[in-house]
Amino acid sequence: MPAIATVIALASPTTTERAKSALSAGRLVAFPTETVYGLGADATNDRAVAMLYAAKERPTFNPLIAHVADLAAAGCLMQFDAEALKLAEAFWPGPLTLVLPKLRGCPVGQLATAGLDTIAVRVPNHPVARDILAAFGKPVVAPSANRSGRVSPTSAKHVQADLAGRIDLIVDGGASPLGLESTILACLGRTVLLRPGAIPRATVERFLGHDVGVAAVAADADSGERPVAPGMLVSHYAPRAALRMDATTVAPGEALLAFGATLPQNAGNAGMILNLSARGDLVEAAANLFNYLRELDGAGVNSIAAMPVPDEGLGEAINDRLRHAAAPRHRAIHSTRPQRAS
Ligand code: TXA
Ligand code: MG
Repeated sequence: MPAIATVIALASPTTTERAKSALSAGRLVAFPTETVYGLGADATNDRAVAMLYAAKERPTFNPLIAHVADLAAAGCLMQFDAEALKLAEAFWPGPLTLVLPKLRGCPVGQLATAGLDTIAVRVPNHPVARDILAAFGKPVVAPSANRSGRVSPTSAKHVQADLAGRIDLIVDGGASPLGLESTILACLGRTVLLRPGAIPRATVERFLGHDVGVAAVAADADSGERPVAPGMLVSHYAPRAALRMDATTVAPGEALLAFGATLPQNAGNAGMILNLSARGDLVEAAANLFNYLRELDGAGVNSIAAMPVPDEGLGEAINDRLRHAAAPRHRAIHSTRPQRAS
């Protein structure tokens, strides 16, 4: 990735305008929240989200949290049940993230939610984050603004140390007061704790008047753990069609998920072809991945032949996702290779 000149600017109305323009242009902006600094991108722009994954060097496409200004904005993204609404009304704005079914027509892109039918949303209460979200007026995905495997940043300096040269703007709003990420609760039938965080579980349970279940493995993308939870909770999107990786030929009637300028000689066999990136650009390929998988799957083919994608940069996460899609369904949420300690 070519180095970008990263500007660090003290929080101010001018800086908010600058953040808004950068986000609108698909660029990356780090900003303070009450928990930790987040690395923001326009959640509705798959290309910006792909650049965010690249900047963080995440080896997998873990779903991201969409940050919005208020409950009304969250209501345009996700389907609240009674308990979720109660939680949102009590704890927003604040360090609570809710995972709920994604609404049909939700403008947040497939890459931001890693192809899932659920979405994680939070309304932060840091004044600088709130100003930026209000000015931008669209959801902003914001994972912690660190490189994968490093600790979460609680100051602009921390962000600078990890991400200078990779992002456009760091908004300096002083130290994040809580210094611990948001508590993540999934309300999909019953309420389950996916990640312990700044709001203690006991506080949530006291408020709800009942215990909450705990996910088998706490979801924390940066620790290298996968968001694995009981049952269907966070199982990754997998196509109905079988998927073959590293395909160099196409069988009659197969769909072809292509990459690069040179297609297999018998590409004419394909019932449908979508090219992740004809110019071999991995950021473009990542931005298209989930949309194209769904499109090919929706075309009713039995098999998708996926051409090889180089295992470098975002290619690592693309291949990780393709490997999951290719795995037999009952194993689909387990990694097929050793976990990288990140
Ligand atoms: O405090 C925070 O939440 C910070 C600040 C910046 O807001 N953000 C943050 O984001 O910690 P991140 O990306 O580092 O962690 C988001 C976690 C990941 O572990 C991811 O697996 C989980 O949320 N997550 C996101 N969407 C999900 C979904 N649909 N189902 C289950 N887990 C989800
Ligand atoms: Mg993180």
